[in-house]
Amino acid sequence: MTGWQSADMADVWLKVAVQRNRMMATATERMFAQAGVREGARVLDVGTGTGDTALMLAHRVGPTGEVVATDMAPAMVSAAATAARESGFTNVKTAVMDLSSPLGDVGVFDAAVGRCVLMFVEDLPLALSRLRGVLRPAGRFAAIVWAELEDNPFNAIPIAAVRKRREMPTPPPELVKAFSLSSASDLQRTFEGAGFGSVVVERVALTREFPAFADAAKVLHEIPLYRELLSLLPEEEHSEAVAEIEQGYRAFVRADGTVAFPQVTLVVAGSA
Ligand SMILES: C[S@@+](CC[C@H](N)C(=O)[O-])C[C@H]1O[C@@H](n2cnc3c(N)ncnc32)[C@H](O)[C@@H]1O
Repeated sequence: MTGWQSADMADVWLKVAVQRNRMMATATERMFAQAGVREGARVLDVGTGTGDTALMLAHRVGPTGEVVATDMAPAMVSAAATAARESGFTNVKTAVMDLSSPLGDVGVFDAAVGRCVLMFVEDLPLALSRLRGVLRPAGRFAAIVWAELEDNPFNAIPIAAVRKRREMPTPPPELVKAFSLSSASDLQRTFEGAGFGSVVVERVALTREFPAFADAAKVLHEIPLYRELLSLLPEEEHSEAVAEIEQGYRAFVRADGTVAFPQVTLVVAGSA
């Protein structure tokens, strides 16, 4: 079982949905545009989490289209199903789907998307060729991944604080895995190697904002991904590392007390 399937992950993911969707908005728009999402389309959403992108897609494809929202974590899928029901969408289906396994009988899609999921998939070339196999000819798959750590200080700072004190284990914590696809040229090659054509990779800059410093610092203790990383350190080093991370974060406090971290994503897309 990975951290994604832990009991509190879906609850925490739901809690920070508004902030996440605000931060990811520009990249999400590019992902939908690159996937060619349009009214009436049948769209597969992989690694949907609590279903944020599935609901946005449901709105775009309308009642004549369909969204199949999938994730390997049953608690995430269940939260996505509840969100779709509560939002009144009748064009969203949900299913547990692990991209590291055969996709099963899911039918044919006009488009597929995956926001911040591909980095966690064990055999990505195999998963990509399976995804290509469920798209209609020329159907597009578009995904968002994180660019290099140095462009993402909110994560680079805690990862550096832990790396300084301890060698990363194998497999690394999920937060470190999140940066495993940050080379645009490697990503392009992986998509092409899986048989995708017309592959494009765009860099999309975002901002991660917090109303106050305490809100940024709280993430280290509240979000399981950061807790997992910091749990690699023994008690005495743990508090020392947290103090160092908070010190690093202070550079991003603005004059009005709000906090803004630059973030960079890669939006990758290809045609089946
Ligand atoms: C960073 S979250 C992103 C969730 C959602 N796409 C969003 O943007 O809010 C990563 C998601 O990928 C899912 N995931 C991780 N590995 C997966 C795999 N092998 N197959 C399918 N989903 C996976 C996790 O359960 C988690 O919900």
